[in-house]
Amino acid sequence: MTLVPCTVIVGAFWGDEGKGKIISYLALKDKLDFCVRTGSVNAAHTVWAEGNRYALHMVPAAFINPKCRLLVAAGANVHVAKFLEEVEVTKVHNRIGVDQNASIIEEKHSVEDKASAVNKGIGTTGWGVGPALEERVRRTAKLAKDIPELKPYITDGVAEVNDGLDNGKKVLLEGTQGFMLSLFYGTYPYVTGRDTGASAIASEAGVGPTRVDEVLIVYKSFITRVGAGPLPGEITKEEAQRRGWFETAAGTGRDRRSAPFDFDLAKKTAKINGATQAAVTKLDSMFPTCRGARKLDALPAEAKNFVKEVEARAGVPVVLIGTGPDALDIIDLRK
Ligand code: IMP
Ligand code: MG
Repeated sequence: MTLVPCTVIVGAFWGDEGKGKIISYLALKDKLDFCVRTGSVNAAHTVWAEGNRYALHMVPAAFINPKCRLLVAAGANVHVAKFLEEVEVTKVHNRIGVDQNASIIEEKHSVEDKASAVNKGIGTTGWGVGPALEERVRRTAKLAKDIPELKPYITDGVAEVNDGLDNGKKVLLEGTQGFMLSLFYGTYPYVTGRDTGASAIASEAGVGPTRVDEVLIVYKSFITRVGAGPLPGEITKEEAQRRGWFETAAGTGRDRRSAPFDFDLAKKTAKINGATQAAVTKLDSMFPTCRGARKLDALPAEAKNFVKEVEARAGVPVVLIGTGPDALDIIDLRK
């Protein structure tokens, strides 16, 4: 079985769960026809393909399948320079589109973000996403269709995706960040400027709730958080290094704080997002002998038990297990 027509990918915790890796796997394995990037430039999705590492802030993570049509959602905020730079690096000029109604994030938003005492206290990424969204709410933000450099890419992405679904095309809606950074459901005020949940991802892409077939929630085997705000069970940097969990942010290079997997939180986020499937990433960070495994039988009993416990306690079937950085380092349990 491969993906049914429309799947939403949502992060379970505070972002950096490995959504980019899961999406790049599905792009290749399930031959995705469309991938729609929501959110903005604050979120970096890491994709490893054929020994190259990409940290994508604007281009959808499914770009590694050369047949996939790539779209930036109407609800997204486009950083024009970053978009053009990534289009160049990934060579997707001929198959990427920006929805005409996506709004624009500008340098002034970043300046405001970095200067604001409130945003400093939250520890934002400094890209200016909050101020850019404020402008959109005030109805003074520029839209993608007004930007000459974007002209070759402007499209009606909402029509493309919905027509694609009418024709049975496989569509993936790429969420960014994690549910606990949601403006509505996260650890307010230590959150980002938008709702990061599955319903919001569909809304940003212009896909109605009844058209979504699967919600795939992505759990990392341990939890990380960048910036300020609560992180239950947090361990020290030294302890994280000892356990092999210590990470730095793909986008900003900041240290990521870390904590062990939280089964109760996993259950809660699965429920609120209506998750129908789950992925567990970075199992090799918890159990180094799992590295690169592509079959369940190759896992030690303790790793299998961990995955079983996630499934039982979150109440969602685990269908994909990440065992290494490459797009294809996956155990795929879908029948
Ligand atoms: P902002 O989204 O830049 O406004 O930052 C608000 C909070 O969300 C800060 O704690 C950031 O570190 C966090 N954040 C924003 N984007 C990401 C992401 O992609 N991964 C992890 N944390 C993020
Ligand atoms: Mg990230």
